[in-house]
Amino acid sequence: MEASQRSGQTAARYSQVAEAYIDMFGSPEQAEAEDRELIAAWAAKLHGPVLDAGCGPGHWTQFIADGNRPSTGVDLVPEFLDFARRTFQQPDFLRADLAHLPFDGEQFSGVLSWYSVIHVPPSDLPPILDELARVLQPAGKLLLGFFAGDQPEAFGHQVAPAWYWPPAQLGELLEQSGFGVLEVGTRSRPAARTHGHLSAQKLS
Ligand SMILES: C[S@@+](CC[C@H](N)C(=O)[O-])C[C@H]1O[C@@H](n2cnc3c(N)ncnc32)[C@H](O)[C@@H]1O
Repeated sequence: MEASQRSGQTAARYSQVAEAYIDMFGSPEQAEAEDRELIAAWAAKLHGPVLDAGCGPGHWTQFIADGNRPSTGVDLVPEFLDFARRTFQQPDFLRADLAHLPFDGEQFSGVLSWYSVIHVPPSDLPPILDELARVLQPAGKLLLGFFAGDQPEAFGHQVAPAWYWPPAQLGELLEQSGFGVLEVGTRSRPAARTHGHLSAQKLS
């Protein structure tokens, strides 16, 4: 099976549960305060347009826009994009695969990939990271949210199979795609999956 078919399968699963996902996660207030603070602090340092790669319902796209920052959300799920366009006026929302972004070149000062590559099998991840690097300006910033674990191994996520990543190993993949890792963080709660984030900068 091709990578595009795998991402199509993931998108089809999100289409089936889009309404419930929007109810549970479709606003930043439903996220943990630490996530809001992290994303706000990351975005505050950016000067220029921002891409929310795998934006889902678009709530983080709107959050990053913060009234005046140009922001664009891309996702493969029509139901999410319909909701985002109805709910949020200012950001642009486009249907696109992260592996083939519809942008000519280095136009974003930042790319947020918030839990949007969690369903991507390890073999399909490098081309997506290359693509995120391609659309970033030199020295542009990436913030990646993911589930942290000891091994890059699959688990039965509620929507579609997903992968745990050891932060250091995911950082190595980022470096292979031309990023320098700036910061790594994890957050554990009892009886919950460990959250991870990596912030990185495009090196050239
Ligand atoms: C766990 S959700 C996260 C959504 C949003 N970033 C959030 O924080 O709520 C994963 C999202 O990534 C999107 N996604 C996964 N693979 C994708 C791909 N190859 N191209 C575009 N979007 C993708 C899914 O459609 C879904 O909306």
